[in-house]
Amino acid sequence: MFDYLIDHPAGSPEFHAELRGAADALTTGEADAVANMANLAALIWQLVPDLNWAGFYRVQGDTLVLGPFCGRPACIRIPMGRGVCGAAAASGTSQLVEDVHAFPGHIACDAASRSELVVPVIVDGQVIAVIDLDSPLPGRFTPADQDGFEALAALIASRIREM
Ligand code: SME
Repeated sequence: MFDYLIDHPAGSPEFHAELRGAADALTTGEADAVANMANLAALIWQLVPDLNWAGFYRVQGDTLVLGPFCGRPACIRIPMGRGVCGAAAASGTSQLVEDVHAFPGHIACDAASRSELVVPVIVDGQVIAVIDLDSPLPGRFTPADQDGFEALAALIASRIREM
């Protein structure tokens, strides 16, 4: 069991630096992509407040397939380009959605979700997965969160690549 604690204000650059440090410690030296995604989802779930879903979708051809996550059971397959996750994967850019009800094509896996941040995970210029974070609070995610999770995605990208 790993007990991590962050005492910086949630969402601050210091918070994200510590989250990255914990993610680094958890995944460094481990080659199994599924184990790393599982532990990263659990770590985010444990440390990042006000989430109702946190996890991975993996790019498999032209579809995103559900990966390790914490939260309620979710949609298993999302076509590339569909929903917030599909938009992030297809464009290779993060999607910070303050109000999911205003996002055309948003896929409601959990009716409690009000805002969402989806960050692509890129290896050698290819999107291999996305990190998907849902919150029951409208406008939960800030540009600083986007920066923080983009840096986290860059750190862990090679460690969640499935062989
Ligand atoms: N809301 C996402 C679908 C995945 S769930 O949130 C876990 C979307 O629109 O892509």
